[in-house]
Amino acid sequence: MKILAIHGSPHAIRSTTRQLAGFVLEGAADAGAETGMIDLADYRIIPCTACEACSLNGICVNDDDVPALVSRINEADAIVFGSPVYIDNITGQMKVFFDRLADAIHYQQFAGKYGCAVATTAESGGDEVVAYLNHVLNYLGAISVGGMSVATGGQPEAVDAAEPAARALGKKLADAVRDGYTDPTQEAILTENRAYFSTIVEENRDLRTHEYDRWVRMGWIR
Ligand SMILES: Cc1cc2nc3c(=O)[nH]c(=O)nc-3n(C[C@H](O)[C@H](O)[C@H](O)COP(=O)(O)O)c2cc1C
Repeated sequence: MKILAIHGSPHAIRSTTRQLAGFVLEGAADAGAETGMIDLADYRIIPCTACEACSLNGICVNDDDVPALVSRINEADAIVFGSPVYIDNITGQMKVFFDRLADAIHYQQFAGKYGCAVATTAESGGDEVVAYLNHVLNYLGAISVGGMSVATGGQPEAVDAAEPAARALGKKLADAVRDGYTDPTQEAILTENRAYFSTIVEENRDLRTHEYDRWVRMGWIR
């Protein structure tokens, strides 16, 4: 069982968000998971220019680190998304990465995975960012087991107090991978998303035959 955390703080190793995601991974590791941490700030990610070339074959015209990151996600059974709150939202680093996942979202390439979300903030916006990160997990076809945020009040050591809850979240994620986890509300969202994206898959059936066949096999297109 592999669980991968991806966080968008530019503080990298000194990041409180990284620390929080690390506690989640430690809880998952105690429950038997092999874990990995990705500091997005260490990777070269060129912003999407909406050229739509990827819609032809799934391959971006830009030569950067996104394919390697997508491979890491593909290898994982579950993903932990983490971001600090920047102006009531995720960081630019995180958003630029998400925009580059549009094709993966359209074709639901991460369906069947589980996830959770963490955020840190000085004061406000933490829960909203967690909700957004979980929304992206659902967009990607993954089911979230939950999330948590920490408002540090400018004291980074405040994250230490969140360690037990973060470890419990990591255990819940590992348990979901091992035993399964269902949430009717999220299942309904995923079904609605697939109905919406199926028009793209059907329109491109001659270009993306492999993807079309997978959707038919999955019973997402009849
Ligand atoms: C550009 C920028 C924007 C921020 N915006 C907010 C904000 O809107 N609300 C807030 O409470 N904290 C805000 N903060 C504070 C960070 O969310 C907070 O310090 C966070 O814990 C940093 O996480 P990190 O150590 O993982 O980078 C902002 C910080 C920066 C640098």
